[in-house]
Amino acid sequence: MTTPLHAVRGELLHFTADPADAGAAALAHLPDGLLVIDDGHIVETGPADTLLGKLPSDTRITDYRGKLVLPGFVDTHIHYAQTDIIASYGEQLLAWLEKYTFPAERRFADPAHAAEVASFFCDELLRNGTTTALAFATVHPASVDALFEAAQQRRMRLIAGKVLMDRNCPDFLADTAQTGYAESKALIERWHGRDRLLYAVTPRFAPTSTNEQMTLAGRLYAEHPGVYLQSHVAENRAEVAWVAELYPEARSYLDVYERYGQLGPRSVYAHCIWLDDTDRQRMVSSGAAMSFCPTSNLFLGSGLFDLDRAHELGVRVGIGTDVGGGTSFSMLQTLNEAYKVLQLKGQHLSAERAFYLATLGGARSLYLDDRIGNFEPGKEADFVVLDPQATPLITRRMARADTLSERLFVLMMLGDDRCVARTHVLGEAV
Ligand code: GUN
Ligand code: ZN
Repeated sequence: MTTPLHAVRGELLHFTADPADAGAAALAHLPDGLLVIDDGHIVETGPADTLLGKLPSDTRITDYRGKLVLPGFVDTHIHYAQTDIIASYGEQLLAWLEKYTFPAERRFADPAHAAEVASFFCDELLRNGTTTALAFATVHPASVDALFEAAQQRRMRLIAGKVLMDRNCPDFLADTAQTGYAESKALIERWHGRDRLLYAVTPRFAPTSTNEQMTLAGRLYAEHPGVYLQSHVAENRAEVAWVAELYPEARSYLDVYERYGQLGPRSVYAHCIWLDDTDRQRMVSSGAAMSFCPTSNLFLGSGLFDLDRAHELGVRVGIGTDVGGGTSFSMLQTLNEAYKVLQLKGQHLSAERAFYLATLGGARSLYLDDRIGNFEPGKEADFVVLDPQATPLITRRMARADTLSERLFVLMMLGDDRCVARTHVLGEAV
């Protein structure tokens, strides 16, 4: 017994390259297209009128005509334990961590709290069309179990890890170099590669780990081929100055991570604002990726990310919401603020480029573009269905939008979770 094919009809849009490199050839657009799915994976895409006649008669058709179907969004930096402190007033990074973040993360010592937040968090990602995320848990190993369990129940692709933090933090959130290493290793063995779940070694940032813990974090990353490493770098000027005091031997903040063996493929650094070109070159040559987190960078007053420079030098870049320093789970709202950050840099983010970054660009930055990021045959069928008539204002503005480019721009400037009509994971609506 084989299950019948599933075909999704709608306006299909995905990317096969970066529009900044390939121009219009980077886009694949089918105004009335069919996405054919077998057992959660994409079989083919094509115009509905040619494909419909060829499909077996028992094919299940889901009709999204009038809506846009895009690959699921990829959020390359987010903190699930900060869900409850999103939109906390008045501070920049270091004071914000002390005043809001650490007390919120303390509550994850309770596994029941962790499970409740993890469920909400995964539902909220999906409600916003995000089907893959790279997420921080807290220092508590059970917080990682809770998040992976919630993602596993929803069949989501999720990368996450236990925070490593053994200095410059409250005692109630500190591990030690040895316990952090042992607990991370046990979590890797339990979760990495199970279903769609992958593990990320997660030193919070250089100031909150001792030299010994930094060494062991690098070792975990080296000892487990295929695991990720996530951290923060060069977000805030006071933070950068503090790192220079703590690590006087390092050439730069990024160099600290490199000295401890934490730069390489599948390492992802959030923010990357206060870097120089040597740092950017080191990211290119090592294969590391940047996560651009515009809503967080504006909210915490951190600074303006230089996308053009990253692109000129060839660094991998994805988009991160960075909830709860970031102010929205919505990738559409995040692209809105990315556009504005780049305006202040004198740079121009086209809508095509923005949606590329939120889909295939994110997948490439995570080395997952062989499995997700677009609608090429064989890929996992994660997709988001966007409603271009979700609100009266968007409907009105869309009526004046003539080109695909303009319609996408309206969606990213005016859209949010209200525009997400449906999210599908491995082919199925959630
Ligand atoms: N740097 C170290 N920890 C954090 C965090 O939780 N959020 C942000 N935005 N930056 C950090
Ligand atoms: Zn962060």
